[in-house]
Amino acid sequence: MPTPAAVVAGLGTCLPAEEFDNASLAARLDTSDEWIRTRTGIAARRRAAPDVSMRDLACEAGANALRSAGLRDVGGLILATTTPDRPCPAAAPEVAQRLGLGPVPAFDISAVCTGFLYAVTTAASLITAGLVDSVLVVAAETYTRIVDPSDRGTAVIFGDGAGAVVLRRGSSRERGALLAFDLGSDGSGKDLIHIPGPREQGDGPRWFSMAGRKVYLRAVEQMTASALRVMKDCGWSPSSVDALVPHQANARIIQAMAERLDVPPERAVCALDRVGNTAAASIPLALAEALRTHQLQEGARTVLTAFGGGLTWASAALTWPRLSAVSSEI
Ligand code: COA
Repeated sequence: MPTPAAVVAGLGTCLPAEEFDNASLAARLDTSDEWIRTRTGIAARRRAAPDVSMRDLACEAGANALRSAGLRDVGGLILATTTPDRPCPAAAPEVAQRLGLGPVPAFDISAVCTGFLYAVTTAASLITAGLVDSVLVVAAETYTRIVDPSDRGTAVIFGDGAGAVVLRRGSSRERGALLAFDLGSDGSGKDLIHIPGPREQGDGPRWFSMAGRKVYLRAVEQMTASALRVMKDCGWSPSSVDALVPHQANARIIQAMAERLDVPPERAVCALDRVGNTAAASIPLALAEALRTHQLQEGARTVLTAFGGGLTWASAALTWPRLSAVSSEI
């Protein structure tokens, strides 16, 4: 019996034009191209020009997703970011206004690298509750502005970028229908991924910090368990999943998850070599790359899963729809 569902109808991305590779980092940090490639799978990442804001990346990715969906209007906008250009107000209303969406509900979500899937789940809930017919979900990040350039543990990993999807109301029988969700958090790990506030740090610099090894182990554990829960909800065995699209933090995390889940390694999408870890934006960017390389095909049983600061984790399952992603550089 088909039930109302939110359906993925469009996919857009935007990357800053400037790329910086491992050699440029090795020239100023105690690291090497070889270490970064073998320990993370990353060869290069993007950096937004000084006059490009997180909101500019968000607007471009959002406009591209609308083009991909063939729509001019949607009923709401949710924006996931860890790197707002300013603490207040949220960026989503301005992005909605710049995209000409009218007086729609628009708000930001902060769940670090899990933000995109928290936003997708919230958007799908608004749609299936009947509050809106469609939502533009955008994830945009400018991590190069918050990582300490002298910290080899984070500076080699993160890059800037944005991705977006359009969700519309449809039925669970349609390709593109989001069929299962899983969300979770554990605040006891709040210090593992962290930017201090003014009262915690005084006048010193307030850089992003990450306890890499501990986060690595928790990420494998939680994403594996969360992905399994959505597969179970759909009645899918791991071996029947066509595309596993995890948060793109580290190629070794993705391989370890595929092994634990017993998903064939070639079905685990790993698309971080030229963009690094783009936090909330990593899943839509990976989806666009997997489409470009035909790793993701219409009808594919697709599982998305993410882990990030908070700590937070989330997964979603869908069958992949017929669509063409629209991508640009800024
Ligand atoms: N270049 C060279 N050496 C480095 C380095 C770099 N860029 N970064 C760390 N090292 C060193 C460490 O100092 C350590 O040296 P020691 O053994 O002399 O103390 C050694 O390499 C191993 O460090 P470790 O932190 O155990 O490495 P790792 O294999 O865990 O890789 C990360 C580090 C950050 C790449 C990895 O832990 C990671 O990807 N973490 C998770 C990120 C993530 O999932 N984020 C999700 C939310 S965004």
